[in-house]
Amino acid sequence: MAEAASKTGSRGLRMMIRLLGLLIIGNIAFTAYVWNKLSTHGEGQTRIAFVTASDAPYWELAIQGASDAADEYDVELDVYRPTKGPEEQSIILRGLSHSNVDGIAVSPAQPDDQASLLNHIAGSKKLVTIDSDAPGTRRHFFVGTNNYAAGYRAGTLVKEAKPDGAKVLVTIGTTVQFNGRQRWQGVVDALLGRPPQAGQDVEISLGPQADGKYSIVATATDAGDRALAKPLVTEALAKHPEIDCIVGIYAYHAPAAIQALRDAKRKGVTIIGFDDYEATLAGVESGEVYAALAQDPYHFGYTAVRSLVGLHKGSAAAPVSESMLFSCAVITKGNVTTYREKVKKTKTVAAK
Ligand code: BGC
Repeated sequence: MAEAASKTGSRGLRMMIRLLGLLIIGNIAFTAYVWNKLSTHGEGQTRIAFVTASDAPYWELAIQGASDAADEYDVELDVYRPTKGPEEQSIILRGLSHSNVDGIAVSPAQPDDQASLLNHIAGSKKLVTIDSDAPGTRRHFFVGTNNYAAGYRAGTLVKEAKPDGAKVLVTIGTTVQFNGRQRWQGVVDALLGRPPQAGQDVEISLGPQADGKYSIVATATDAGDRALAKPLVTEALAKHPEIDCIVGIYAYHAPAAIQALRDAKRKGVTIIGFDDYEATLAGVESGEVYAALAQDPYHFGYTAVRSLVGLHKGSAAAPVSESMLFSCAVITKGNVTTYREKVKKTKTVAAK
């Protein structure tokens, strides 16, 4: 027994050393990658790094906006799209903290764990958060959606779609990332009939909650792993056949819910989603999605880079407030065609 325990112990130690080794190699490799990218930049030009939260297609328009601003303001822009999760993002940020970029725009995936790193960066560079904030840190400002208000709006859309009441499944990425936490809290407050709390932090409770006609039967969390979104909905539908409404708070959730409902041959379940992925817009057209709240990632990217240049150069483009919030478009069957036209125009302008 003691021998078995010691064997397990030494195996555990060997594993830890291997993991540590991999982490160190990973760190060195990423730092080298960051340096390599930066060494190709022109002298004297403003250098900005743009770090997304993931490689989700959602980020494409944000990157487009950032690179349009970079062209306009003669900035060298480096884009980093972590593919392996928050740890990889932290490694990229650590690499950048030692580099000579002038400014960084980042969507922090783990703002609490990354707080000291972000504060360290803000000590020597201009730092803005995009899409999701890191409150309490020394970042210069946030550009994105008012995520609590957007979540609250999603909750009121449930009430509009289901005036007689609803049994709701909320699918979320994570409450670690601040936009997920705020949207989730907004949805819950609206469904439970609480007045808007302007984003005040309340205790996170992912269990079932009810208020009269509306109840949150389950909350599915996928930790930002899009591949898990559909199986989690399928599982929740099987476990709770009473679910008649799904609120998906990240861009990939509505498409996942549409697919899960089709596979389960379930009709009469209302979906409220976020953003404007093609599958979501098609779902609005077909009536499978009641409404989607589309953010404006193009302008997040554009504004972040433009303001970073302003902060770096002390020019008029510098932001005047701590957060720059863009409203969400509420896309419904009634305006989806007009919305498509508008977005096509933005993309055409962006592509020029
Ligand atoms: C969120 C992003 C997230 C994306 C994922 C969006 O709604 O704002 O933070 O990365 O969904 O698809």
